[in-house]
Amino acid sequence: MPSPTALRTIPLADTIERVLVDEFTLQRRVAELGAQIADFYRGQDLLLISVLKGSIVFMADLIRAIPIAHEIDFMATSSYGAAVHSSGVVRILKDLNKPIEGRNVLIVEDIIDSGHTLNYLVRILQERQPASLRIVTLLDKPDRREVDIHVDWIGFSIPNDFVVGYGLDYNEIYRNLPYIGVLKPDIYTNNSTHD
Ligand code: IMP
Ligand code: MG
Repeated sequence: MPSPTALRTIPLADTIERVLVDEFTLQRRVAELGAQIADFYRGQDLLLISVLKGSIVFMADLIRAIPIAHEIDFMATSSYGAAVHSSGVVRILKDLNKPIEGRNVLIVEDIIDSGHTLNYLVRILQERQPASLRIVTLLDKPDRREVDIHVDWIGFSIPNDFVVGYGLDYNEIYRNLPYIGVLKPDIYTNNSTHD
C-alpha cells in the first residue's frame, strides 16, 4: 500500500479501481434532487444544514440546483470511535450558527452507512424544535444500516464498497475527485479513519 506521502505524487485517479458514479450522472441527479426539493419547499422557509466535511461538494452543487430562497448552515461532528456502534453517540465539533426553532430544516449528508451518525444528529436537532426536519443524502448503503432512519431524498443507493470522491474521503484525501469511485484494494485498509 502506498504511504500517505507516496499518494501525494501518484495521480489520485490511478488509485481508483472503478468509477461508480461518473461526473455527468452525479450532476444530472443533483439537478433532479434540487428541483424536487424546490418543489417541495416552494413558498416556505428553508434552511439547509451541511454536515462537514464530506457533504460540502454535494452541498455546493445542490444549493445551486435549488432555485428558491433558502439559507445554509454547517455542523461538524465526530464519532467516539468504536462506541458509535453501540451507543450512536456523536461529539459536536462545530455547532450551528443560529437557532433552528420553528424552521424547516433539511440535513444534507454525503452518505448514510450504519445510520448512527445521522440518527444521533436527528435526535439532537429535534430537541431544538424545528418546524420540520428532513434528510437528503447523496449516497445510501442500505445493506449496512443498523438503525432505522427515514431518509426523504436519496441520490443513489450503492453497494457496500468503500467509496471516495465528490467530498468523500479516505484518510482525508480524495475529496476533490469529481466522481464517486471505488479504491483499489491495496489502497484501502480496514483500520482507516474517515469522517
Ligand atoms: P454512519 O454513522 O455509519 O452512517 O456513518 C456515516 C459516515 O461515515 C459518513 O458521513 C461518512 O463520513 C462515513 N462513510 C461511510 N461510508 C463511507 C465510504 O464508503 N466512504 C467514505 N466515507 C464513508
Ligand atoms: Mg460524513
